[in-house]
Amino acid sequence: MDPNILSDCKKRAAERAAAVVQDGHIVGLGTGSTAKFLIESLGERVRLGLKITAVATSIATERLATELGIRVVSLNEVERIDITIDGADEINPDFDMIKGGGGALTREKLVALASRERVIVVDETKLVTVLGRSYKLPVEVLPMAWTHTSRALNELGSQSHLRHQADKPLITDNGNYILDCDFGGIADPAGLEKTIKLLSGVVECGLFIGIADLLVIGRPDGIEERNRPR
Ligand code: 5RP
Repeated sequence: MDPNILSDCKKRAAERAAAVVQDGHIVGLGTGSTAKFLIESLGERVRLGLKITAVATSIATERLATELGIRVVSLNEVERIDITIDGADEINPDFDMIKGGGGALTREKLVALASRERVIVVDETKLVTVLGRSYKLPVEVLPMAWTHTSRALNELGSQSHLRHQADKPLITDNGNYILDCDFGGIADPAGLEKTIKLLSGVVECGLFIGIADLLVIGRPDGIEERNRPR
């Protein structure tokens, strides 16, 4: 899809999701290009008088939200988040997802798990039948043992590559590395998530199971909303 059309789909869907946020809400703010549109839309509503408190899923999100006048607190300062709105890299018909394209998977999962309602905003290119066929699964790992964790992931059937940025290993907001793991199609996302989380050196896995409640899909011809299948 044309990148401008894609961007417009994300923007309109993010604006639709932002409209769900109400006065007094504690809002989890996602990370990525879709989340950026969401934060801009919420920033505009705050400028017009909306009163919210936000919890950010990355340093970049916290910076943007603060610049736009949104009050940001840490996850430890709140007992519960009312609603979290975030993007995704892939989502299947059961609403299982791959996230972490922006390297923020650990904070994204923690914030989502602390939330009463989780809204995921995507353009239609993120809808897949099988996770992991065309997008590699991000896994956040401890730098001091990354080669060992990478081998352990490869023993599970992956081809794992250390993510780089400007010729150096990418360092996450938590000071860790990301391994992008090609599993060539993930038949059992819930089982794989559990297996990966048991590997020493793994901080978090980019499989998000049972987390998305509402999906907002931006399409060139309109916006579709879907509830998680029961
Ligand atoms: C960041 C994420 C993002 O939600 C995901 O990568 C989607 O990004 P975008 O909205 O830019 O397509 O998981 O860690």
